[in-house]
Parts: sequence; C-alpha cells; structure tokens
Amino acid sequence: MTIEIDTARVLCSVAELARDGCRGFTLGDGDWPLRGLVVQVRPGVIRAYQNWCPHLGYALNFVPHGFLSRDGALLRCHSHGASFEKEDGLCIAGPCRGRRLLPVPIEEHAGWVLLAAGVDPQALRDQIERQRG
Ligand code: FES
Repeated sequence: MTIEIDTARVLCSVAELARDGCRGFTLGDGDWPLRGLVVQVRPGVIRAYQNWCPHLGYALNFVPHGFLSRDGALLRCHSHGASFEKEDGLCIAGPCRGRRLLPVPIEEHAGWVLLAAGVDPQALRDQIERQRG
C-alpha cells in the first residue's frame, strides 16, 4: 500500500517529537511564511501553535526548537517569561496571563505531522494581523 504525503505541509516527524518534545517549523516562502511549533503534550497527543507571543508579538524562542520550560512541562516565551499550557496554549503565568497562543490545525499521517488538509497558511498568518488590531 502506498501512502501519499503532501510534503509541502509537513511540519515535523512524530519521531522528532518523541525525542525532543517540541519542534519549530517554517512553512512557505517569502517575507511572511507560517512559523510555528509542534509539541507533544503526552504520548499520542500533539498540538501546534504559531510562533507568536500574545504579549508583544515576539517569537517565543531564542534558539531553534527551544520552546519548552526547563522542566519541559510548559511552553515558554523566552523574552519576558510567559508560560503556556501545552494542551490549549493558555498563558498561565507572565505578562499575557489569560491569553492564548494561536492554534495551528494539524493531522498525522504515516509518522509525520502535517498542516491539516484544506487549511490556508496565509489565513493563519492573517490571524496575527487581527490580533494586533
Ligand atoms: S513577548 Fe512573550 S512574554 Fe513578552
């Protein structure tokens, strides 16, 4: 049986997540690609968010794939220390407490995590512009 994967939508492999817990991704070209992160909440449960902090709109990480708190329990913005739940992106501590990371719809196929079929990366990017108001 042949399984076809839309490689243009691949965010990371499930094996990378199992090893590292979290992976960053860039999807698309040009000045405004979709940038985000994929995180394993627990075995079998994966979430993805845009790499955009609701505090001041900075990227969450300073180093590639560096999105987790020291103990790995939370996602963390390394600019001013906001901490987010992996499961739903809710900020539970820091300057944007009560706000959420912007979710990225995903699906899994044959060991890969992909942007969900039918989701327009540009439409997701536009969410950031609406958040900025
Ligand atoms: S920009 Fe993320 S906590 Fe300030």
